[in-house]
Amino acid sequence: MGGSVTVDLICAVCEAGGLGMQGVSWHEPDALAAEIAAIRRRTARPFAVNLVLEWDQHARLSQCIDAGAPVISLFWGDPTAYFPKLRAARAKTIVSVGSADEAKRAADLGADAICAQGFEAGGHVWGQVGTMVLLPAVVDAVAPLPVIAAGGIADGRGLAAVLALGGAGAWIGTRFLATPEAGAHDEWKRRIMAARETATVHTELFDLGWPKAPHRVLRNSTYDLWDAAGRPPSGLRPGEGDPVARQQDGEALLRYSDISPNQGTTGEIEAACLYAGQSAGLVRDLIPAGELVTQICAEAEAALARADALRRS
Ligand SMILES: Cc1cc2nc3c(=O)[nH]c(=O)nc-3n(C[C@H](O)[C@H](O)[C@H](O)COP(=O)(O)O)c2cc1C
Repeated sequence: MGGSVTVDLICAVCEAGGLGMQGVSWHEPDALAAEIAAIRRRTARPFAVNLVLEWDQHARLSQCIDAGAPVISLFWGDPTAYFPKLRAARAKTIVSVGSADEAKRAADLGADAICAQGFEAGGHVWGQVGTMVLLPAVVDAVAPLPVIAAGGIADGRGLAAVLALGGAGAWIGTRFLATPEAGAHDEWKRRIMAARETATVHTELFDLGWPKAPHRVLRNSTYDLWDAAGRPPSGLRPGEGDPVARQQDGEALLRYSDISPNQGTTGEIEAACLYAGQSAGLVRDLIPAGELVTQICAEAEAALARADALRRS
């Protein structure tokens, strides 16, 4: 989740038995190597790195492989060009998809696991199909390859549902933003905890930095301003180019920027791009990330036991 994922967050998840993942799509070469080294120093457990294929990622992929990243995840677009390198390195690879056809193509390329990202998901959203239908469709298309579901999962009931639908695991974003370890700004965390399940919009609005890329965010004053102006196209929107906040390094965060506010950002946090999935409606409290992993697993076991008791009754 871009700059919102800290080494603390990744390592807490890994140590609790999850697979922490860092997005390295925008890292400079030195920063990428340092990030992987920092994770390695803190945990002996496997972790993953994620590359967004909107941009050429061949150099970063080589760096991830050279640094020995245990799992590599690819998102957004056709991963074909990256597979010769991945296969040669025998790197464990997860490919995110939005349809069963895409999943089949990724499986044929040699992916080790598939992430089925549903329409409910927070952040950038590749496909159009909700997790409830996408997951079993992808499971059927690529069996026996493991399929991990992303989008709409915030607690153990969601994990139990994923398992019941044939999934091998849950890939959870928004819920982990509301942890003390996440680097997200406190106001963004607070708004996720206060959100109802209807609080997000699927839009292309926050496009400075990454145009024409649908994403899901909390509906906010920037969205309302644009909506009230009759939804004009990019370039003609109200307040276009206005700084709404300032990042820690002093750089202006412009209205409609795709950059979200992290700790150290100052200004009108509410008006910035606050990525969140529909699952924000299920998030009510700030929980340490390791405890959250444990809690989700315990809740899933309870949910599965409840379902079993129903079956027997
Ligand atoms: C703040 C934020 C940033 C994200 N950045 C990325 C990213 O860089 N790469 C990626 O594959 N997915 C990214 N995602 C999407 C997640 O991988 C995942 O699909 C999504 O969070 C699942 O839905 P959920 O938020 O309801 O759990 C991001 C999601 C959020 C909330």
